[in-house]
Amino acid sequence: MSISIVKNFPLDHLNTFNISANAKFFYEFKTLESLKEILNHNLLKTEKSFVLGGGSNILISNDFDGIVLKNSIKGIHITKENKNHTEVEVGSGENWHEFVLWCVKKNLSGVENLALIPGSVGASPIQNIGAYGCEAKDTIKKVEFIDLESKTIKELTNSECDFSYRSSIFKKDLKEKCIITKVTFLLNKKPINNTSYGAIASELTALKIQASPQSICNAVINIRSRKLPDPQKIGNSGSFFKNPIISNKKLKKIKVEYPEIVNYKYSQTYSKIAAGWLIEMAGWKGYRKNDFGVYDKQALVLVNYGNASGNDIIELSKKIQRSVHKKFDIKIYPEVNII
Ligand code: EPU
Repeated sequence: MSISIVKNFPLDHLNTFNISANAKFFYEFKTLESLKEILNHNLLKTEKSFVLGGGSNILISNDFDGIVLKNSIKGIHITKENKNHTEVEVGSGENWHEFVLWCVKKNLSGVENLALIPGSVGASPIQNIGAYGCEAKDTIKKVEFIDLESKTIKELTNSECDFSYRSSIFKKDLKEKCIITKVTFLLNKKPINNTSYGAIASELTALKIQASPQSICNAVINIRSRKLPDPQKIGNSGSFFKNPIISNKKLKKIKVEYPEIVNYKYSQTYSKIAAGWLIEMAGWKGYRKNDFGVYDKQALVLVNYGNASGNDIIELSKKIQRSVHKKFDIKIYPEVNII
């Protein structure tokens, strides 16, 4: 089978920030076999590579001087079922939101709170995507990947993935050492109805409907659409920064001057702070210069209104980091991967 590697390939429509950039080489893999084939190709010995999923959590700073491997491994299959649970294997190149809709349609509960998160299923365990009181780790049973060194297929169970807030082993020990090929989820036949996150409960009350996977999914879609820009219209990659985790001691100090600081309990001794609040308080919400800026409805989201470059966004993010640090003595870090 011949391998079709494309030279000088535009990435403009493959990143939700809509940044204009080219990859020196580009290859799309739809099966495990074609992925194995490219991994054994000579080009991979000399060129650096980057695996692209939904392109929703990356910021491309420049043209990519290497080979971009686009993951298009598809397939959603029920593999096991019992009275309470259904096990589903999903190809890593499937679109996350499509997978959520598939579950909701089958009345399987567990991922409905994560509706409308852009990106691919394969990216979900890497940064343990989360929203509205749920995280991917709550339903992931195991993750299959190719180990880039041995070129063999391996599998990690949920606990071996070492999940934490927006992190996992794939961001640490296995960073750049593997390509995720399949994720297995354990979904509930009985609805979980996690409406603990304030906005969902009030949205359901406003819509006058009871909690169910379908109604929660709809509520989340409504809430997200109001707060977050549609990447089809305004380039962005969701939350640009992670919510910082600081000691309760430090929080107490900041509270003296800012008693209204938005914070959540993280552990006995640490608290999570809403970075959006910090950025808004530092005066950046709605900021715009040329074609780049800070979204006016959610300060955690940096946006490209048209022709911003990756470097415009990076420079802006650095300015925001410095100003938040100066005002609150808190360091915030990108959750977006800069390549
Ligand atoms: N806030 C402000 N100003 C802002 C934005 C937020 O004051 O401009 C305050 C508000 O008080 C709000 C609180 O911060 O109540 C939290 O805001 P929000 O509910 O929008 O959530 P978030 O902490 O900003 C996180 C995730 C989102 C996820 C939402 C909903 C991170 C980095 N982001 O945002 O995930 O959708 O919770 O659960 O944890 C993403 O990762 O791309 C993403 C969008």
